[in-house]
Amino acid sequence: MSGIFITFEGIEGVGKSTLQKGLAEALEAQGYSVLLTREPGGTKLGEKLRAAILSKEQGAVAPVAELLIMFAARAQHVEECIKPALAAGKVVLCDRFTDTTRAYQCGGRGLPDAWLEQLIEMTHCGLTPDISFWLDLPVDEALGRAKNRSEADRIEQETKDFFERAREVYRNLASAEPQRVIRLDAASLPQALIQQALEVFRQRV
Ligand code: TMP
Repeated sequence: MSGIFITFEGIEGVGKSTLQKGLAEALEAQGYSVLLTREPGGTKLGEKLRAAILSKEQGAVAPVAELLIMFAARAQHVEECIKPALAAGKVVLCDRFTDTTRAYQCGGRGLPDAWLEQLIEMTHCGLTPDISFWLDLPVDEALGRAKNRSEADRIEQETKDFFERAREVYRNLASAEPQRVIRLDAASLPQALIQQALEVFRQRV
């Protein structure tokens, strides 16, 4: 595959979407063909699964059901959207991917990592992000920002401890895979974050 696969990660309210859009504009201005997408979602089926799993009206969801729905959406997304875009040489910018599942469903909900590994084998088709930008902010600050931004969805309503565990998983990923998972200080101004992300991109491409 000749394209580049970049993901944006972090807990709620850290500014992933802003960085994703800013980086997309900067790369398009340099002549790159960019696909902006998100998880769960990115396909017709994925967006339906997203609406179902994030709806507050849904009430409690069994953690295993949540895990499987995230991966069902991902399987469709990889097959229908991400793989063809990479094959066409595009830069794929994806708001969240499997690192979120590891942080939220394994860290937050406590599901075993071994289950995740099996699902990765089933759905990724050998695909790993080339770069994952982890936007990091203390949990209180991030949740404060998220609250001001929009009405919380079902998962955003989780406890502070849930997000502390998720943040810890991101921290561990960044130290285990420093080549792929790049920590960015989400307290920086949006323009500074775009410049930092562009610099990492330039070094890799
Ligand atoms: P967001 O992308 O707008 O932040 O909303 C997506 C929500 O779904 C967010 O609360 C994180 C959650 N999520 C998971 O719990 N597991 C996953 O694998 C993914 C992709 C998202």
